[in-house]
Amino acid sequence: MRPRVVVGISGASGAALGVRVVELLAGSGQSEVHLVVTPGGERTLGLEVGRDAQSRLSSLVVQRHAIDDVGASVASGSFRTLGMIVAPCSMRSLSSIAAGTGDNLLVRAAGVHLKERRRLILAVRESPLHLGHLRAMTTVSEYGAVVAPIAPTFYLGPKTIAEMIDQMAHRLVDLLGLTLDGRKEWLGTNGSSWVLGHMTATQTATTNANKSEQ
Ligand SMILES: Cc1cc2nc3c(=O)[nH]c(=O)nc-3n(C[C@H](O)[C@H](O)[C@H](O)COP(=O)(O)O)c2cc1C
Repeated sequence: MRPRVVVGISGASGAALGVRVVELLAGSGQSEVHLVVTPGGERTLGLEVGRDAQSRLSSLVVQRHAIDDVGASVASGSFRTLGMIVAPCSMRSLSSIAAGTGDNLLVRAAGVHLKERRRLILAVRESPLHLGHLRAMTTVSEYGAVVAPIAPTFYLGPKTIAEMIDQMAHRLVDLLGLTLDGRKEWLGTNGSSWVLGHMTATQTATTNANKSEQ
């Protein structure tokens, strides 16, 4: 069985990143995607990505769960998953996860990932941040989440916004431990030039195998 991954899209700016994460995970055929979108996320998807964003997302995933269905499969620790990515993660969702309120399915599923000691990656977005935001990030980090702010991958030399979003989405998927074709890897500098590797999933598996033999 393919590993299940929960993707949450909340109402921070950067809805296109959530869409790209779903496209990468679903398109790879390596995982089964379960999607939860908050009402805020629905709003930013419409504003930032377009009117057909939601139907396209629903067509890509194995199951889209209603935000108020706290009895859904992903609300239970007995439903095994590889991990969860919240992209983008608003300060509201972040704060609810930090407080452990479990008051909607996104927050509940995130809490389940923490209590089950599974990967929870929060692609937070707000600027500037007040102390409460920073404290909430500290709290979720202490609970085991990975706080991965939405930050442009300038060092990978993207030529377009779409390419930058793609690179950021790959970094989030990397954090789950999944390696997908098309990811770029920083291989250090060669004199004054930057060296980028385009590693495929197979190449990465080989590289890792070689490393463990050394
Ligand atoms: C266009 C737009 C952009 C927003 N950007 C952000 C943002 O970057 N970060 C954030 O924390 N909230 C942002 N918000 C506010 C959230 O959508 C709002 O706080 C919402 O209640 C979040 O709830 P949710 O986490 O359940 O989606 C934005 C709202 C809109 C309409």
